[in-house]
Amino acid sequence: MGQIVMQHSEMNGPFSLTDTSAYQYWRKAKLDSYPIQASHLKVDVSNPYAICGREKSAITENLRKYNLSIYSISGHQDKTLVAELGNQFGMSRLDSNLCADEDSITSLQVIEGGRQKGYIPYSNRPLNWHTDGYYNTGSAQIRGMILHCVQDAAEGGDNFLLDHEMAYLLMRDEDPRMIKAMMAADAMTIPANEEAGEEIRPAQTGPVFSQDSSGNLHMRYTARKRNIEWKQDAATLDAVAFLEALLASESRYIFRYHLRPGEGLICNNVLHSRTTFTEDDEHKRLLYRARYYDRASDTDLKIEEG
Ligand SMILES: [Fe+2]
Repeated sequence: MGQIVMQHSEMNGPFSLTDTSAYQYWRKAKLDSYPIQASHLKVDVSNPYAICGREKSAITENLRKYNLSIYSISGHQDKTLVAELGNQFGMSRLDSNLCADEDSITSLQVIEGGRQKGYIPYSNRPLNWHTDGYYNTGSAQIRGMILHCVQDAAEGGDNFLLDHEMAYLLMRDEDPRMIKAMMAADAMTIPANEEAGEEIRPAQTGPVFSQDSSGNLHMRYTARKRNIEWKQDAATLDAVAFLEALLASESRYIFRYHLRPGEGLICNNVLHSRTTFTEDDEHKRLLYRARYYDRASDTDLKIEEG
């Protein structure tokens, strides 16, 4: 069984349970950025291959505040724009999953057969809340993601988005004991993935919340009930129930957004879900998804004393 080792659990800063003053300072700044609607996080990008300074600053500002930004591009639909755009935000180390194309970027569309059969992302079924790559090993954690819409469905296929730092904040305000449980190295286990009796990915055990070497908050999570084993203690189960209730709620911190053709989401792997959708002949949904080991540049946590 793989054990996800996060080395920096004793760091100071807002995500340390003992550093209350840093938390309170960070918390106030975070809450001051709300309420806002997702449509206000949209930045027009004129050339994704050479983004201009003003556009880049606007996207970075959104990422710093919300860990996500929406962008809108007209005229460019070539798949290469995704990797090029990521590069300009310091996102270059692409994760290649089983269903990715040769360039390590996945074409998300409804697929009837093949390896993708049985995977919800390749169907029109609703996709439950998760962060990407929650089953990845410790060294291959997904810190950044781009989701670029080439074609939207005739109806539905909306994304719900929640900054994982807000999930942390709300949980810590409710009961720091739950945060402690979610930071435990044995909080969540994803059993091995088997295809036709053959193990293609070993089981992964690790925390839900952790800190990277710069102190940034990272989250591994899936709301799915099957193929997931939670540590069976009261604090862990309380935290799981808290997250479920939060994600099912109409929290002002949850964004709902329907990506239109040419629009995309760039994020530090925030929590997300997708509604079901309906296609017709002219509206076959196609999204490109790039997953990175890097978070967006210039979005590292700044620990300032108030
Ligand atoms: Fe995802």
